[in-house]
Amino acid sequence: MAETVRAFFAIAPGGEVRDALVRLAGGLAQRTRGRASRPESIHMTLAFVGEVDESQLDALKAIGAALPDEGFDVVLDATGGFSRPQVAWVAPSLIPAALSNLQRRLADELAAGGFRVEARAFAPHLTVARKCEQVPERQAITPIPWRVDAFALWGSALGSGGARYRELAVWRLRPVAAPDVDAEPSFG
Ligand code: 2AM
Repeated sequence: MAETVRAFFAIAPGGEVRDALVRLAGGLAQRTRGRASRPESIHMTLAFVGEVDESQLDALKAIGAALPDEGFDVVLDATGGFSRPQVAWVAPSLIPAALSNLQRRLADELAAGGFRVEARAFAPHLTVARKCEQVPERQAITPIPWRVDAFALWGSALGSGGARYRELAVWRLRPVAAPDVDAEPSFG
């Protein structure tokens, strides 16, 4: 039988941004009696493709590779939660135009390639804790500036300790040329 993979395109922070998110994750998980995300799992989904046959991964990689784009800055300045599923997240309250452009272009290319595209509105966030007994209220935090210089195709597999993610392909974004002043409000 053909193997399937749960695939999605995402951006993931490293270095100090990830360290800051790991600290927030620890605090939020404790406060909500949830389970902090593994540091290497923290990401923001741009396009959720869902279950695909392994033979379709090349087509997804071709879509990612054909989207050369410029990097951008995102300011993560809020925490909050979703009640279904019960998660805590960190998010930007403004969506830079470059982020929504990348997300939209990915969705368009996926649809053109015959992939199922998630219809729900783009609500950029990084889940930092799951199985939260109490869902945290939205709250402002000291802004964490994040320079995004790559995006990737990820695959997930369900294991005993929850989902395990692996990066299947990564594409560099061109260095940021100028600050992005064209931003729109995020969700919530
Ligand atoms: P989450 O972090 O809010 O759970 C892998 O599951 C990634 O895809 C996670 O970032 C998850 O978001 C996201 N995801 C899962 N199901 C989704 C769906 N139906 N639509 C959009 N994103 C989804």
